[in-house]
Amino acid sequence: MTFDRSIKIAPSILSADFADFGAEIQAIEAQGADWVHVDVMDGHFVPNLTFGPPLCAAIRPHIKTVMDVHLMISPVDPYIDAFVNAGADIVTAHLEAGPHTHRTLQAIRGAGAKAGLAVNPGTPVDAAAPLLDLCDLVCVMTVNPGFGGQSFIETQVDQIRRLRALIGDRPIHIEVDGGVTPQTAPLVTAAGADVLVAGSAVFKGGSVANPTVYGENIRAIRTAAEATAFAAQ
Ligand code: DX5
Ligand code: ZN
Repeated sequence: MTFDRSIKIAPSILSADFADFGAEIQAIEAQGADWVHVDVMDGHFVPNLTFGPPLCAAIRPHIKTVMDVHLMISPVDPYIDAFVNAGADIVTAHLEAGPHTHRTLQAIRGAGAKAGLAVNPGTPVDAAAPLLDLCDLVCVMTVNPGFGGQSFIETQVDQIRRLRALIGDRPIHIEVDGGVTPQTAPLVTAAGADVLVAGSAVFKGGSVANPTVYGENIRAIRTAAEATAFAAQ
């Protein structure tokens, strides 16, 4: 993975057909997805359950782009090796998941993946400042994690702007996750985000049998995002 701040659309397979992940991934990549976002939930850190390392390993051969694994689990450290061995390119852990996030980020890089740090809406992004040199990506949550299809929390736009200033010239992606649509995308890219996760806004109206809708949805988000991106870069 080479670093750049071009706009990347990362569909979340949380909104895909769980019985057909391989075909869904091939469809979104063929329709212009830049990364594939994989939401891992443990029913403890967040009030929902999804899947773990075996599912990640099973879908890995279908992903030609980047496997972006978002861990909404606590604890994180006992599972890092399993997700990296399953083929994650990026492993993102939450700042709120435990007291030793510094150690967690070191362990992710030590295991051979890019390290991401996710920050909930209730956490000041300033708390990420001492950790930035251990991060390849910071994910600003624009919903409370746990479910797809929630409304964008607009006050997080200021946090994205603040994070962009904290990062400065460092090669760290700013990812935004939750409620991203063609309406909200320009707000986050104007504030400095470059990776846009989108679940419902990518998958709505489409299917493996009708994949061009995925392409239209991805293009609508990208066009809206790119219209404001350059001011922030
Ligand atoms: C929320 C997940 C998101 C979610 C986004 O807990 O981390 O990745 O799938 O879904 P939308 O785009 O529908 O808000
Ligand atoms: Zn996510």
